[in-house]
Amino acid sequence: MTLIAHISDLHVSNSTFDEEVFMNAVAEINNLDPDMVILTGDITESGYYVEFQQATKYLEMFDAPLFAVPGNHDARNLGYQTFEELIGEKSWKLTMDGKFTVMGIDSSSPDEDKGHVGTPQHMWLEHQLDECVINEHFTIVALHHHVVPIPQTGRERNVLSDAGDILKTLTTHEVDLVLSGHKHVPNIWKINDTLIVNAGSLSSNKLRGKNKNSYNVYNITDSEIEIFLNEVGGERFLFGKYPRNLI
Ligand SMILES: [Fe+2]
Ligand SMILES: [Fe+2]
Repeated sequence: MTLIAHISDLHVSNSTFDEEVFMNAVAEINNLDPDMVILTGDITESGYYVEFQQATKYLEMFDAPLFAVPGNHDARNLGYQTFEELIGEKSWKLTMDGKFTVMGIDSSSPDEDKGHVGTPQHMWLEHQLDECVINEHFTIVALHHHVVPIPQTGRERNVLSDAGDILKTLTTHEVDLVLSGHKHVPNIWKINDTLIVNAGSLSSNKLRGKNKNSYNVYNITDSEIEIFLNEVGGERFLFGKYPRNLI
């Protein structure tokens, strides 16, 4: 069994970040003892250096290894450079136990809100996913921007500009999980054999309607994937349960 916590949209700043909620979330997630934490961007509100410095201290509070991709807010004010200095590579790949591959894709562009993967990164993704198919790996791809529009988020403006091509690559390679954030609204879409899952905002007060701060938890066994939606300091729902794509 592999347990993954998926957090997103912290928005660390003096304005939109709720430290108390964040501290509660850290305690809850550490208590779950996940194998890893995946963070799908908008770590900071404005990409300022001082925000990234603050964020680094907060992220160190997680006991599990944490892997992050940048969001559009992180790419503001030279944040796309600061991210690499203080957080790590913006795109990355790791393998676990010789049977899992997790990839992070940078969908941000400096000082723009819309998402874009771009041809070089798309080609790299294709190549890595070809290997995952050959090696029969369980595959997770994490990126900030949603690949498919999310219900209850108003007028669509920020879906990936190359969403069609990326979605085609993800689904034809039967990627098991695609993890995103950005809209601050949790959601699951299933397209062919691929689950496309959005996390809500972990600790930002920029929430729509009665949405609460939340994070997702994935419980992956040999036969199924359970997705839990955990409200910070609140309820825990079984958000979805799906059989594994067994070959
Ligand atoms: Fe956000
Ligand atoms: Fe965002």
